[in-house]
This record gives sequence, structure tokens and C-alpha cells, in this order.
Amino acid sequence: MAEIHKPTTANLRRLARVLAEGGLVAVPTETVYGLAANALVPSACRAIFRAKQRPLTDPLIVHVPSVAAAAKLAFINPAARKLMRALWPGPLTIVLRKRPIVPAVATAGGPTVAIRCPAHPVMRRLLRICRLPLAAPSANPFGFISPTTAAHVEAGLGKRIDHIIDGGPCSVGVESTIVDLSDPAKPEVLRVGGITAEQIAAVLGRAVPVRNHAVVAAGPLRAPGLLTRHYSPNTPLKLCARITGAMLRRAGADEGFILFAHPDGALPKTAARVEILSRHARPKEAARKLFAILHALDRAGLRQLHAELAPEIGAGIAVNDRLRRAAAKRIGR
Ligand code: TXA
Ligand code: MG
Repeated sequence: MAEIHKPTTANLRRLARVLAEGGLVAVPTETVYGLAANALVPSACRAIFRAKQRPLTDPLIVHVPSVAAAAKLAFINPAARKLMRALWPGPLTIVLRKRPIVPAVATAGGPTVAIRCPAHPVMRRLLRICRLPLAAPSANPFGFISPTTAAHVEAGLGKRIDHIIDGGPCSVGVESTIVDLSDPAKPEVLRVGGITAEQIAAVLGRAVPVRNHAVVAAGPLRAPGLLTRHYSPNTPLKLCARITGAMLRRAGADEGFILFAHPDGALPKTAARVEILSRHARPKEAARKLFAILHALDRAGLRQLHAELAPEIGAGIAVNDRLRRAAAKRIGR
């Protein structure tokens, strides 16, 4: 069993030592919880892959406290600097050409490194205390639903790690947006998350294409983690444009429904379990609650889950992306 620590200064100092010695610590960020290790030590990075059962071909995100710290790991071009100034700290990961100090295992042998400066106050304190870049993928077994509470981490990885820092529920709730600026002439969004492609385009003053995951699957493996059964619950999930009253009324007690918003009027009578992402149809609230609701429904012993898609705007785009991946047929295992 992992120990769940309160984020006191004494605990953060102790856990900074664990990290300095090559150990693993699950950490809160504003997006999802991460499983952190010293990014500069190959054996520490390898321990992350082992604990998550993550293939070594899927590179890690490295967390830093500042632009100056990022500059020690990667070559920062003017476009990247603009984005860092405008959107860091926050849920934005930038892929850049790496410096030799970053070990190959952290980048899956590739020439680029993904860097993020998180906004969560506990993670920021930890980064300042330990003075190390921290490699941290989401703190879930590979392919499963990302954790947005310390309890989710404990449920998924508790038997494989010793330390979890409890920073409360994550405020963004979906992973960071990943933008590839390794070729500044061809910026691309590789994963939509806590920042919209429009926000990035506004800062850069140009349109930035989003490579959805079908395109990633067909092309070279630039974000191999996007390929397989990501964000998947164990219970099968079906998507639809809208969950109707008739669907709820005829559903059985072994079904679960995820509504985007509360329907006009009363909820129809139903034997099924019903969860609402955002009562008043707010996409950011829906993103914040999505993984917690998936975790809860997945543990409820249901036969079939259903979810309706969010309006495809703002944070709704990331919500729909995660729902589609959760519903995708599993590959392997
Ligand atoms: O919000 C987040 O980004 C969270 C928190 C903990 O920071 N982290 C996270 O990490 O979601 P992870 O490992 O679950 O997802 C990272 C994704 C993977 O799909 C990986 O393939 C991609 O980032 N990635 C990492 N390095 C890359 C690189 N050099 N080029 C392209 N994609 C990269
Ligand atoms: Mg992940």
C-alpha cells in the first residue's frame, strides 16, 4: 500500500529526498495526478515505466518550475517562448528539440522532449524544493483512466508505489494540451487538453493544426501514447450524440449514463445509474468531473456505460476526445 501524504513542508522536503535518490512519488498537478521521478536519471525514469507497465516507446513529459529551467533541457525557439510567457504555468506541454542532458529513456530515444510548467501550488512547491526536473506521466496503469484524486492513484498504482502526495481534486481534470514546436515553422497540436488550440493560435498569431488520433495512428509515432486503449474503463462504453428520456426510461439497473448537462425539466424515471458532467452545461466543469465520474461508474459493477458528447467548443473538445478514446475498442490485453 502506498502512503498518502499531506502536502506539508516537512513532507515535501522528505519526498524531495526520495526523488533525489531516484525514487517515485505520485504528485498532484492541476490537470491529473502524475507519477514523478528525477528526469535526469535513467534508472529513475525506467522505474516510472515499470510501475505503470508503460511501453518504453512512449516518451515522458518533464515538469519544470520556470522557463529558465526549461532552457536547461531544450532549445527554446521564439514561438515556444511566446507560448511559455502567455500560458505557463498551466496545462500546456511543449515539444522541443532536447539538449544532451535529457536521458534517452525519457524521450523514448527521440530527439525531442516534452516540457511542461504546472500551475498546481503543491507541485510548484515540490519543484522548488527538489530543484530537479521531474518526469511525470499520468499516475495510472498504462491505458486506464487518468487519476484526478489521490484515491484514484491509490486504487490504480497503490500496490506498485510507496508515496502519493494528496493535493486535492485536480481543477482542470483532463491532461495538458501538447503542442509540437520542435519545428517552429510547423507547429502542431498533438493532444487537446486544458488549453484550446484557439488559445495557442491566438498567442502565435497563426492557425495551428490539430492532429487527431486517427491521423497520429496512421503517421509516424510522434505521440505513441495516443495510439492504444487510452483512458479506458473496464466497463464497455458507448457514445451517442444525445441521451434521450426514452433511453433512460427503458434502461436497466446494470447500465450507467453520463449526461453532459441536466435535461430541461425533471430527469425521467429510470432504473439506471445517471451522472451529470455539468448541471448547467459548462464545458470546463464537465472536463473537471469527467475522469472522476468514469472511475466511479467503472467501479459500480455495471454491464454497459453510455455517454453523450459535449458541444464541440472550448473544453468540450478535450472532453469529447477523452470520451472517444475511452469508448475505442481495446488493442491488446
Ligand atoms: O497533464 C499532463 O500532461 C499530465 C500531468 C501529469 O502533467 N501528464 C500526462 O502524461 O498526461 P502522459 O505520459 O500520460 O501523456 C504524455 C503524452 C504521451 O502520449 C506521449 O506520447 C506524449 O505525451 N509525448 C511525450 N514526449 C513526447 C515527445 N517528445 N514528442 C511527442 N509526444 C510526446
Ligand atoms: Mg496518460
